[in-house]
Amino acid sequence: MIQRDPVGFLKTEYQDLVDKALDWKHKTLESRSDPECVIEGKKVIMMCSNNYLNLSTHPHVVKKALEAVEKYGAGSGSVRALAGNMWLHEELERKLAEFKEQKAVMITQSGYAANAGVIPQLVTSTEDVIISDELNHGSIIDGVRLSKAQRGKDFIYKHSDMGGLEQCLQNADKANARRILVITDGVFSMDGDVAKLDEIQKLSEQYGAMIYVDDAHGDGVLGRNKKGKGIVDHFGLQGKVQVEMNTFSKAMGTIGGAITGSQDLVNFCRNKTRTYLLSGSHPPAVAGASLGSIEVLENKDGKFDNVVAKLLDNCDYFKKAIVNLGFNHAITEAATKSFAAITPIICGENDKAKAMSNRLYEEGVFALPIVFPMVPRGTARIRVMMTTGLTKGHLDTSLAAFEKIGKELEIL
Ligand SMILES: Cc1ncc(COP(=O)(O)O)c(C=O)c1O
Repeated sequence: MIQRDPVGFLKTEYQDLVDKALDWKHKTLESRSDPECVIEGKKVIMMCSNNYLNLSTHPHVVKKALEAVEKYGAGSGSVRALAGNMWLHEELERKLAEFKEQKAVMITQSGYAANAGVIPQLVTSTEDVIISDELNHGSIIDGVRLSKAQRGKDFIYKHSDMGGLEQCLQNADKANARRILVITDGVFSMDGDVAKLDEIQKLSEQYGAMIYVDDAHGDGVLGRNKKGKGIVDHFGLQGKVQVEMNTFSKAMGTIGGAITGSQDLVNFCRNKTRTYLLSGSHPPAVAGASLGSIEVLENKDGKFDNVVAKLLDNCDYFKKAIVNLGFNHAITEAATKSFAAITPIICGENDKAKAMSNRLYEEGVFALPIVFPMVPRGTARIRVMMTTGLTKGHLDTSLAAFEKIGKELEIL
């Protein structure tokens, strides 16, 4: 019999990651996730949180969480389909559908759970095809992997290349695909640019393909009249994009995902999505807080500040300044032209981006590096995520630190 060490790989594989400096080193946040926060004993300006609208600490959102926990307790007790379907969950779905100007919503435990659970149900067999942008998020890729549909190189197009998408659609048509699912991030999470959803919609319609857009970084940020309704509203495509996936873990400041679209879509998903059916439902505090976030965004009686407008002002100020400083790599410039709140500042090789992040922390600015293999070699970056609560003073201090360290490290 072969001699086996049943768990030896745990140590060796971890050590391999450490040796290649590919292991995750978590930093500890010791305060609330505010624009100024405390990380490992040091006061820093937070420049890499997804809490775009600072709703995680908004007084109305916190109040709604407390009220929900007082009234409904700490947990839901079950999955939605059994004993865990609370009035709060249904109210959250109604509110989100109304805010998104869509017919129906199914909330899920997370955006990841939505992608991993819904994608493999929409396209189920080798007769089906999934077409993807090459830069789609990992949680979409995991959902794709759980489907039996065809998704090889004939069905992956170069980032935002609409000629490439058309070629993939033709390939799917030639393969006599039963169903075609075109999946894209709305805002690409590493590059901060916005998908050409209007063109994707036109092409997909021609080929009878269904569209699935992951609006994780567009929710609360994109949309007409600074209302943060997301990418579908940004392009005025309500009713024309069949599946929208949302998350509460970014601009909404809480946690949880959602699938938004027609009543048929939601009826189907509620009965087929395994991540939804087999996992406990939101605790009341989370559902209550998420309701509060939507109320702040809706701002029906005008009692809140427009948190989206302030975010967009900050984005504009910071993005222009960063390019003026000379951080003018094509990826940075493309993000500057988009309406999203992500600015990737390209540093080059992994060690440069890591050194930049460490030096920024020393200077009191918290912004983390994104390195190969998460992004292509030579494009390691600092990914700045803008938030509403940052003042011009915070932005100027951060920009001065970027300039100083950029020169020190010969990136500028
Ligand atoms: C594009 C994209 N989709 C999905 C997710 C997952 O969302 P959640 O945090 O709600 O699981 C993320 C989060 O990193 C994301 O960036």
